[in-house]
Amino acid sequence: MMDIQKIGIIGTGYVGMAAAFAIFQQQLATELVLIDKNVSRAEGEALDLMHGQPLVGRCTVRAGDFEDLEGAGLVIICAGVSQSSPDENRLDLLKRNISVFEMIARELDRYAPNALLLIASNPVDILTQAMQCLSARPRQLIIGTGTYLDTSRFRTLLAQYYDVSPNSVHAYILGEHGDSEIAVWSSAAIGGLPVQENTINGREFDVEKMDTLFCRVKNAAYDIIASKGHTNWAIGLVIAGILRTIRDDQRRILPVSVRLEGEYGIENVCLSIPTIVGSQGIENHILPDLNEDELKGLRLSAQTLLEPLEALNL
Ligand code: 2OP
Repeated sequence: MMDIQKIGIIGTGYVGMAAAFAIFQQQLATELVLIDKNVSRAEGEALDLMHGQPLVGRCTVRAGDFEDLEGAGLVIICAGVSQSSPDENRLDLLKRNISVFEMIARELDRYAPNALLLIASNPVDILTQAMQCLSARPRQLIIGTGTYLDTSRFRTLLAQYYDVSPNSVHAYILGEHGDSEIAVWSSAAIGGLPVQENTINGREFDVEKMDTLFCRVKNAAYDIIASKGHTNWAIGLVIAGILRTIRDDQRRILPVSVRLEGEYGIENVCLSIPTIVGSQGIENHILPDLNEDELKGLRLSAQTLLEPLEALNL
């Protein structure tokens, strides 16, 4: 039987462990299985977390192999190499990560054929699509973290600018989780007021300032990597947030990476659009109207992803 309280994490690097820590601390699982090609590392991480159990509650963390994922409700995939220098973009990682994914898909189909898969490895859109081709499970069970992280960065900066809580900022970054992503300014709103048309809390919509703000969002990973070598904490929280949404069937609308089937005139490519996420994974899409520039940007983003996808011949 499938148990949504049993969660697997493949890859115990910075991202996998930030996700494990968030899940452990928020008590989103009763059993966490950590898998890594470096078994000793996974064992050490499991022990280290387990020693915090009395402080948070009864979630068992253990290192394991793919066969230990039998019955898991959700498996988070953070395996693969990540950007290690600010000059390397997410698409450069593709070739290095695709062969690892072939092995992971095979093992997961064998031991956890019904589990939902949440992909966080980069380039996340292409690897989500690759997993949808490589695994036999239905597509709606395979989700990429996509631009949920970028959207979180965007809401953080908008909240700072307008001096309100990020929870009261409704705004999306859509498209590729990467250089071609777009900010949907036309539907960005604070407390129900569209930002483009209003002065909110005494702050105007200043086009130049907003362009700079979006550049900071788009370049956030490069900036963080230049200073600390990797990003991990915010993506760990994003992963835990998606898990909670699925576990509790919250049906939140999240910008996650899914296969488009004609939405905005785009087909056969995974990228982020607002998606209702619930216990069955991807449940539906809510499509905001995009202005001409945004639509053009989203289609260009799809085009950027299509080229490497075609080369993969999935
Ligand atoms: C991030 O945006 C590197 O994709 C990772 O933080």
